[in-house]
Amino acid sequence: MDKVKIGQIGLGFMGTTHYRIHNALPYAQVTAVADIDPVKRTGNISSVIGNIGNDDNSKGFDFSNVDVYADPLEMIAKADIDIVDITVPTPWHAEYILAALKAGKHVFSEKPLCRNLEEMNQIQAAVQASDKFFNCGLCVRAWPEYNYLYEQAKAGAFGKLQVANFRRLSPTTEFNLNWKNWYMNADWSGGAILDLHLHDTDFITYLIGIPKAVTSCGRNLNSDHGIDHVLTRYEYGDGTLVLAEGGWGAARSVPFEMSFQVIFEKATVRLEPSGQLKVYWTDGKVDTITIDTQNLPTGWHQELAYFDKCVLDGVTPDKYQTPQSVFDSYRVLCAERESVAQGSKTIAL
Ligand SMILES: NC(=O)c1ccc[n+]([C@@H]2O[C@H](COP(=O)([O-])OP(=O)(O)OC[C@H]3O[C@@H](n4cnc5c(N)ncnc54)[C@H](O)[C@@H]3O)[C@@H](O)[C@H]2O)c1
Repeated sequence: MDKVKIGQIGLGFMGTTHYRIHNALPYAQVTAVADIDPVKRTGNISSVIGNIGNDDNSKGFDFSNVDVYADPLEMIAKADIDIVDITVPTPWHAEYILAALKAGKHVFSEKPLCRNLEEMNQIQAAVQASDKFFNCGLCVRAWPEYNYLYEQAKAGAFGKLQVANFRRLSPTTEFNLNWKNWYMNADWSGGAILDLHLHDTDFITYLIGIPKAVTSCGRNLNSDHGIDHVLTRYEYGDGTLVLAEGGWGAARSVPFEMSFQVIFEKATVRLEPSGQLKVYWTDGKVDTITIDTQNLPTGWHQELAYFDKCVLDGVTPDKYQTPQSVFDSYRVLCAERESVAQGSKTIAL
């Protein structure tokens, strides 16, 4: 196999982002697409908008050599593809993951994995029964600045981790042109706690481990949006103080922010809201870190380039995350949701 063949389900913000990333790799090609929107099926993606890294969508895609489907299940059944890449709104992740695994395809699904623990259990059983590769787009693990923090911390460069704060704050997407404004429907998106804050929950489990307990407070800013803003304390029972804040309630002109400050014994590492990564050593020296991303500038590029290469080479993907770690952090997130529902009760894991 010279190139892995990919079937892309969903041509919105993430779908068009993935489509471009796969096709820019020398060893991957999107050969089939499926979307329920007839306009996008013509290659016209001018309505697509996202929160960061927006491309020029005024220029459409050329689908003359691509199999185009209205029904994703038909694409899974008929198209000549190795990988099904799922980039539709969250309520449809489980159905397409299960169908693709059943059809013997490798599967990459965007996060959040699914809407609830019941669906997660079905996916976990199907992944365990399949000999195909499965991964979920928890891209922050692969995001260059976060990956730097992870690798240096694990190598012991900064000493013991003492206090960690993570923030992921978005302006409201209420006015965006996402499909049916689905992010603002809590029954579909799960609210900011599931859709947005999950990234930090997942990264914290990667960097520090699965906490013994979580305590979360959250609030709703608009009636049907679910939990729009959340603050969680992750308890490890050893004095390490770990906090994360996530929300999408800010006014529409507020810039998107993903940032962290992690205090270690020997240094404090900060991803500044401006995007600069800095190491402030306790002796007063400050390093500004530049990362050579090898033309894969974001976590989306890194995770997809890695997954496609694993499929090409027949090597089980285990860098960044495993299916088990995807299920583990999803359980932590569900405990946070439970904590908010019970008035900030501490939930043990
Ligand atoms: N990893 C990240 O950083 C990140 C960022 C943004 C979104 N996401 C995730 O990506 C997924 C998609 O989000 P988005 O922002 O691209 O949404 P979007 O609204 O921009 O696009 C959704 C697309 O799916 C299509 N669609 C809807 N239901 C469908 C169905 N049942 N079958 C086929 N096509 C269908 C729509 O027509 C639209 O083209 C979500 O799960 C979201 O949480 C991840």
